Amino acid sequence: MIELTDAMQIDTTINGRRRVFEIAVHHTLLDVLRDELNLTGTKECCVVGECGACTVLVDGVPVNSCLMLAVEVDGLEVVTVEGLTASDGRLSILQGAFLDTGAAQCGYCIPGQLMSSYALLSRNPHPSAEEVKEALGGNLCRCAGYQQITEAVLTAASVGHR
Ligand code: FES
Repeated sequence: MIELTDAMQIDTTINGRRRVFEIAVHHTLLDVLRDELNLTGTKECCVVGECGACTVLVDGVPVNSCLMLAVEVDGLEVVTVEGLTASDGRLSILQGAFLDTGAAQCGYCIPGQLMSSYALLSRNPHPSAEEVKEALGGNLCRCAGYQQITEAVLTAASVGHR
């Protein structure tokens, strides 16, 4: 039987870098990213899978990291918002489009919005506005910046988002 105090070693790739480390089996992926790996771009908000602020990509699929145990990413690839930025700090085209269109207001939901947008553009480089809204349906914005967010994704798509 697994105890809450049990630890397990996981071998994963985070933002292109292989990481092998031991974690408590009950820690969520969100906990580990923020508290142990200092990847605080991923935001903690509702922690019940309702808001999308904690969205990261696991093997290219957007997931709510507050609902996923960290041990579940053993052998998988994780990308957080930090992974969208070039190693020299340059923003990606998608991040730049969010900036240019004023999509970030308070900014708290933006890492999650970016990750869901990135996943969408990776599988569908030329989405319609409806497809953008559908893909971002699980990412809530309390500032109600949805129009600018949709515009940012369409702008990034128009110039090739990477
Ligand atoms: Fe995970 Fe809200 S913090 S969905």
